[in-house]
Amino acid sequence: MSSDSSRRIQVPEELKEVLLQFSIAYLVEQPPDVIDYAADYFNKLQANRPAPVNQDHSQDDQQSINSQDGEEPPVMQNSRRKSVFAEAYDPEADDDDEGATAIFPKTDEQRSRLVESVKNVLLFRSLEKEQMNQVLDAMFERKVQPGDYIIRQGDDGDNFYVIESGIYKVYINDKHINTYNHTGLFGELALLYNMPRAATVQAETNGLLWAMDRQTFRRILLKSAFKKRKMYEELLNNVPMLKALQNYERMNLADALITKSFESGERIIKQGDAADGMYFIEEGTVSVRMDQDDAEVEISQLGKGQYFGELALVTHRPRAASVYATGGHVRLAFLDTEAFERIMGFLTDVLKRNIVIYEQMFTEMARRNTNL
Ligand code: CMP
Repeated sequence: MSSDSSRRIQVPEELKEVLLQFSIAYLVEQPPDVIDYAADYFNKLQANRPAPVNQDHSQDDQQSINSQDGEEPPVMQNSRRKSVFAEAYDPEADDDDEGATAIFPKTDEQRSRLVESVKNVLLFRSLEKEQMNQVLDAMFERKVQPGDYIIRQGDDGDNFYVIESGIYKVYINDKHINTYNHTGLFGELALLYNMPRAATVQAETNGLLWAMDRQTFRRILLKSAFKKRKMYEELLNNVPMLKALQNYERMNLADALITKSFESGERIIKQGDAADGMYFIEEGTVSVRMDQDDAEVEISQLGKGQYFGELALVTHRPRAASVYATGGHVRLAFLDTEAFERIMGFLTDVLKRNIVIYEQMFTEMARRNTNL
């Protein structure tokens, strides 16, 4: 190396990684004070620094779920987990997909309970049949009791959990921020983003969880889930109505979306049909039209970042208008009714405000037509 280049300031890889991980954690949690958060984050990072030599990890944390039932996942080849802090956050360069996938034999009864529990897991949506079978094989059952800590904020991510039953409370910096009621999933963030646990999850009641180890999760789900969240991040961050959602809820919304494409002139929604979901416009424009005396009259045009199809979901009535793709290729993100109700349920009030706007548009349209 020339003396010239040795004088250049090099940004150490480790520094880049640490700052990247910190930024992701900060963006996920969106704490009120960046300095307080940073101080806490880096203190925890230091406290959790991995020991340099192999050590016994049998922590005496009696409340940790991993110490219960003696039902530890089998040790797999190549399964020794690297510290999340030492790894770069790059799913493409991820090498966690080496090694064998764990298989936990299940009775028919267990398997059908598991199938029922994972039915609504949005993260599993884009899996192929074969991958889904691997997921079912790899999941193992955990019983929990009131007060058990399943996840502690700041810890290294070990498992991902799907809830079969039980109530679970989520805390960030000891503040209660979320409750799971007999359904849902948690523990995916640390595994997806290779960062410390973003929150603490504690059981309120007896419950049953289905767990999946980190490696299986990353091998099967990482790339698809990560890509999807990344792909929809910008779109969802720019939909004003969704500003009311927590960052974390917007991520869950991304899991649920399905991309649909239409060419100019194609009908996306037909007036009078039963509603099956709503759409966010990723690219292109659409024309909203209503039937008027054997003809269709355009009542509005919508473009990127806007949405449609939510009215029938909120009012539980048939589609009030038809929607057509206009001006070239239109790419939409579709959210089905069930996911809509689960994730957006509490936004219905915001959406209902739109009804007033729609009513004004319909009245205006009727007035224009009678004046013709
Ligand atoms: P993870 O960070 O792996 O562990 C804690 C889990 O709590 C986290 O993944 C999420 O699955 C879950 N969680 C629920 N609500 C939130 C929230 N608002 N912010 C972050 N994590 C949350």
